[in-house]
Parts: sequence; structure tokens; C-alpha cells
Amino acid sequence: MPYIVLLPSSISRCFYNYEKMTDNRSSEYKRIVIVAYRLPFTMKNRSGTLTAVQNSGGLVSAVLSLTDRMRGQNPSASMDKTVWVGRGDYDAGLINSLEEVKNTFELVPVKIPDSINEKFYGGFCNDLIWPLFHYFPSMTVFGQGYFESYKKANRLFFNELRKIIRPGDFVWIHDYQLFLLPEMVREEFPEASVSFFLHIPFPSYEVFRIMPDGHQKAILRGMLGADLIGFHTHDYAQHFLKSVRRSLGYDISLNSVMTEEIYSRADAFPISIDFNKFHDAVLLKETEKYISRIRKQKRDRLLIFSVDRLDYTKGFINRLAAFELFLERYSKMRGRVIFNMVIVPSRDTIARYQDMKKEIEATVGRINGKYGTLDWNPIIYQYKSLRFNELIALYSHSDVGLLTPLRDGMNLVAKEYVASQRQQYGMLILSGLAGAAAEMSESILVNPSDVSQMADAIFEALTMREEDKKKRIEAMKKRLQDYDVYSWAEDILRTTVKVKSDSWSFRVRIINRDIENRIISTFYKAKKPLLFLDYDGTLVPIREFPELAVPDLQLILLTERLAAVADVVIISGRNKDFLDKWFSNINLTLVAEHGAFIRYSSGEWESSLDQDASWKEKIRPLMTRYTNRCKGSFIEEKRVSLSWHYRNADEDLSSLRAVELKNELEESIFNMPLQILEGHKVVEVKMSGYNKGTAAKKLTASGNYDFILAIGDDKTDEELFHALPDYAISLKVGKGPTRAKYSFLKQPAVTAFVRRLVESRENKTD
Ligand code: UDP
Ligand code: G6P
Repeated sequence: MPYIVLLPSSISRCFYNYEKMTDNRSSEYKRIVIVAYRLPFTMKNRSGTLTAVQNSGGLVSAVLSLTDRMRGQNPSASMDKTVWVGRGDYDAGLINSLEEVKNTFELVPVKIPDSINEKFYGGFCNDLIWPLFHYFPSMTVFGQGYFESYKKANRLFFNELRKIIRPGDFVWIHDYQLFLLPEMVREEFPEASVSFFLHIPFPSYEVFRIMPDGHQKAILRGMLGADLIGFHTHDYAQHFLKSVRRSLGYDISLNSVMTEEIYSRADAFPISIDFNKFHDAVLLKETEKYISRIRKQKRDRLLIFSVDRLDYTKGFINRLAAFELFLERYSKMRGRVIFNMVIVPSRDTIARYQDMKKEIEATVGRINGKYGTLDWNPIIYQYKSLRFNELIALYSHSDVGLLTPLRDGMNLVAKEYVASQRQQYGMLILSGLAGAAAEMSESILVNPSDVSQMADAIFEALTMREEDKKKRIEAMKKRLQDYDVYSWAEDILRTTVKVKSDSWSFRVRIINRDIENRIISTFYKAKKPLLFLDYDGTLVPIREFPELAVPDLQLILLTERLAAVADVVIISGRNKDFLDKWFSNINLTLVAEHGAFIRYSSGEWESSLDQDASWKEKIRPLMTRYTNRCKGSFIEEKRVSLSWHYRNADEDLSSLRAVELKNELEESIFNMPLQILEGHKVVEVKMSGYNKGTAAKKLTASGNYDFILAIGDDKTDEELFHALPDYAISLKVGKGPTRAKYSFLKQPAVTAFVRRLVESRENKTD
């Protein structure tokens, strides 16, 4: 150990406990708690006898399998039964004693009085969120009392959840019915690990903002209560983050949101299916009888199918119009094709759904009447649920899946259809506006409003060569097999663990007067104190251009006074000339260009770096290209680095360009002794092998310091904080994620604090 640790204060102890606590956060979960509007069983009461039928959804099996896997991976840690909290009117004791439930979940029913449910589920969820989030603003109803009921219902869920939540739980909240719940959990159980998953699209901000401001803010804050917020696609995640920035004004750093209380990450986790279940079911005996029925019905005809819940988002009328146009345009196909359209009953107590059903039935009747013959009906229409094996038979023996929703969060039917292709190859026609389109580019992607394009796509799919179909379907199958619903669930769980542990190490604890006093008193008592002070953003506020951010006389004098009572290091990204110009007359150590050069108080500048700068010729043109593409950005050149500054450019565009530039740079610097650094609105390329952390290590090793304090504001200072010994006190300026032990909200608070430090030791009596 190069240092003598003399620090007895409560501060060091408190820091030590804090670090220990952070380590514990990453341990495995002992229990999964699912919260969703619906329980995973449908209760049936037949003449007084209650039975439960397990719902067939992928989520249910994914969660069960996840519990088993976690148990299997860690048999010594007892993994408890998974809990599922959802709406239900029966008592918990009764439903949990049912044979069908016993071996699966522990159910926690949430009783929601009809008077609330009507405006909560029927109103806010299905009359407001559903249409708006699926881009049907004109259908959105802003009914009286909807939001109040929504809040009440979320609270009822929370009241049940809080009774059972305990340390070691992974709480996984699902879908738009429960937007407000994550925040309620975070408020009362800040240490719980919470993930939220949205199963429907998150619309672009321009649509989201149609909602009243209060609703917007409550929904976003509600979701941000989760550590991880999952969406089906990258676009939905970006829409959410943009809404957070615009509506709440929070900064977004890559995919993370950071405020005084929140550290949350939003990302895409496209839900998948139990691939093997669908693939294997094709060959099951129970499926055979349905297959032979379909064969009989088809004879030598080609079969097109669609399966959807009854919903206006599914685009039924356009789909029927496309089929009609196909019959019209490709008249030779008449009599040779059957379209089996299955609509699964859903929300059919709502008038709008009933009207739509009537319209669909009238259209089907009209088309059948127009083209049908004695032995051929172009459309077979079924309004019912299919048994699992019947569904598999339909999937596996259809020549075309025609799935053309106007909007769909994902569309699992598309994935299930592909997974069921094994005895013959069909072709998938998929709406480009379904989330699934992002992963199924080998299908024939169509615009669901373009009836003509869809009609041609039907013909193309029906006449596609066998090898082409095989190639496309196999590519999609492989993807589904590699990322099935189990990988999906594990991915979410694993990422939540990571975000939670990051959130502990990046936890922002705003400094207050009491903490300041404790630091000052330790500083006062120290025998040999050392202070690291970053320059830009710490000693001086960030300005539009670096050359404007110069120290004033007061700051110079203050630094001089500080250097008289402690060892001081100004550790900066600035070059040697700049630091020399302003600080060379003061008795302190200077570190320039993020650690590339060090100048001890009385010496010359030193550096152990290779001075070859030929690499700049490769990087400069790249940065210049980005400067030209992003108005307001500029390049700064230093001896061992090139930086692209974008703080004066358009926020949205420049953040995007910064990510692109970083990606390009990563490729360009491959095999070169360079590193990429991200600072506050700056992307910097510099020679590798050093950073503020390595410089700080060198400097702390050369003296027996019993007090070390570091203050900095950006990512380059994180290396400094990280490199310091445990007893060091690190302070960040600004609200972002940090390894520092405490944060100042604003830069001027630093100057005031440094002044108090100086004064304490100047008045020292011993
Ligand atoms: N499905 C069902 N009963 C049926 C037909 C289909 O439960 O009679 C299932 C189908 O297997 C799929 C789900 O319903 O898993 C529909 O999911 P999708 O994502 O396509 O649409 P959503 O209902 O979420 O809008
Ligand atoms: C979509 C939603 C689910 C919802 C389901 C059925 O898939 O994302 O949350 O449960 O539709 O709708 P329902 O109104 O019957 O629950």
C-alpha cells in the first residue's frame, strides 16, 4: 500500500458501507413477481365447481421456464414459486388451492370494482391509450374521469403488490394498463429490481403529446420507476426516450435517463415465441386430424390465412379489399385460391368493435356473393377461437400468411406461422407497420393501406418458387430459434440485473450542507491533503467555445490560496499552453490533455507518450465530414488528441451523429494505439495507454496523503474517480450518472465549496 490511511471519519465509513451495499445488489433474484392486467388462468365456474384453465400465451410459458432455469442454474439458492398479480374476483386462498394452479404460480388477485374498471380498462386503456398508441388519434376518447379511475386501479394493484413484495424479488410489470405502477414501487421500495415491458407500440412524440400534459407526465414518470423499460422495437424505445426529453425535460444519455432519483434504461427486446413448441406441434398426432380436414377442404387449391383478434388496428377491411382486387386483377386465380380469415373474439362488448364486426361480415358476404360459385367460396370466415392444434394445422398447411395490421406492437401470429413451416413452405406477407417487420425482412413486406400493392403481393407469394420460399423462411426460422421467448425473458432479466447494479454504482447523491461540513472537517484535520480539480465545467462553467472559458482573477486567487494549504492538481483535458498561461505561477501540479502530460509544481512538462501524430491524418477527415453534416459542431486539436464538439449543434441531430461518429471511429482506430472518449457533448480520439485515472494513480503514489478529494464534471473524470483509493472523496458536478460519492447540482456550488475548504485551513490554529 503506497498510502497511510489515517482517515477516521464517519465519511470514510459511510463510503465504505455504500460500496459494500452496491456489490450486494447484483446477486441473483430469489423470486419472480409478474404483474399484468390479466391472470395467467381463466376461471370457469360450472355449477358451483371452480376450475382454472391456463392461458396459452408465450409469456406464461416463458416465465415458468425462466423460474425453472434459475432454479436449475443455482440449486443451492432456493428459488421461490413465481407470483402473478392480476385482476381477479376470487379469493387468493380459493384459486391457489385449485389443482390446475398449484404447481405453477402463486396467484394474487386484485379486485377492481366494476365502477372503476369501466373507466379504467374500458375507458382509459381501451378508449384512449389503445387507439392513440396505435396511431388512431381520431378514435381517441378523452372521457370524463378516465384518468382518475386509471390512477385508482393502478393503486389497487400496488396495494396488493406491496403486501407480498420482499428483498430479492424481480418485479416484472406488463403493458399499458399499468403505466403508473413502477413509480409507485420505486417510491416505497427503492431497492426493488423492477422491469416494465410494453406490449403495444410507443408512438412518436407528435402523437403522444396529443394527450393532456398531466397524463403524459404521469405516464412517463410512472414508467421511469422501472430500472429497465422494454419495448418490442428500437423505434418504440427511441420514441419513449424522446418523449421523456421533450415532456419531462430530462437528459438522455444513450438509452439511459438519469435524474436525482432515477436511473433507468430503455431498450428493445422483441418478444418472441416458444419456437420448439410450434415447430414440434406440426408433427403431433393431435394436429394430424386437423391437417387432413384442411387437405380435404383445400383439394388442389391454394390456401391463404389470417388470424387476428377482432380489432380495428388489424386492418381487416383493407385486407379484404386487397383480396378482392387480387381476384379482379388476376382473374385466372379465381376458383384456385381460398382465403381463410379467422377472427378471434375480443372486446366485443364495445360498440365500436361490434360495428366493425358487422362491416367485416358484410364485406365478406359481398365478395363471396360477387365471385363465389357453386363449388367455390373465395373467403371462409370464422369468428371464434381455434384450438392450439387446429391453429398449427392452419399455419403449417397454408400457402400464404396474410398478416396486414395497420399497426401492431409485434404480431406473434407472423412468428408462429414461420415456426410452423416444416412439411411444406408457405410465404408470409407482413405489414411493415407491425413490430415483427423489423426482424422479418425476408417476408414480403407491404404497406397495409396500399391495397394495390397487397393484391400484387398475394400473387407474388402464391407463385413464388419453392427454393426462394425455403431460403426466406429458413432464414427467419433460424432467427426465431436463436432468440425464442426464453432467451427474450432471460435477456430482460439479465439486463435488469445489470441496470440495477449500474444504478447503485452510478447512484447520484446530491451533496448537502451537512455532508459538506463533514468533508471540510476531515480536510481541516488532515495532515497531508491532496485535491484533484478538473477545469472545464468544474472550476469554470462550460461556455459555447473553449477559448471563452478562461479563469477570472478571483478564481486564480482562490486557487493560489488553496495551493498554500494543500497539494493541488489541476487535471484537465486542456493543452499544456493553456494551463501554463493561467496557472504556471501558482505552486501546484498540472495535468494536461487528460493525463498525457504532467508538470509538477517546480518542473518541466513530462510525458511518456509516443509523440508520433500521423494518426490524425486518418481521423481528421472523418471528423471534418461530421462537422460539415452537423451545423454548429467543430473540431478541436491538441497534441495527442482530436475532439469533435457538438454542444452548439441541434440536440437531436448531434446526439445521433455523435453515436454514428463513435461507431465509425471504432472501426477506423482498429489496431491503432488510440482510444475514444466521450465527454460532455464531445467525442474525443486520443492516444491510448493513459487517462486521468492513470495520471491520478501516479500522483497519489508519490505522497503519503491522508485526505484525497477529486472534483470533476464529465466522463473523463469518471476514470479519475475510479482510480482513487476507497477513502478518497469524489464529487461530480451535474446530475448525470457517476461513480462519484456525491454530486453538486451546479458548477457555481464548487467555487463556494472550495472557498469554504480554503478558509477552514487558513484559520487552522495548530
Ligand atoms: N391465438 C389464440 N387463440 C386463437 C388464435 C390465436 O390465443 O384462436 C393466439 C396466437 O397464437 C397469438 C396470439 O393469439 O399468440 C395473438 O397475438 P398477436 O401478437 O398476433 O396479436 P395481439 O392479440 O397481441 O394483438
Ligand atoms: C394486446 C395487449 C394485451 C391484452 C391483449 C388482449 O395483446 O397488449 O395487454 O391483454 O391485447 O386484449 P384484452 O383487452 O382482451 O385483454
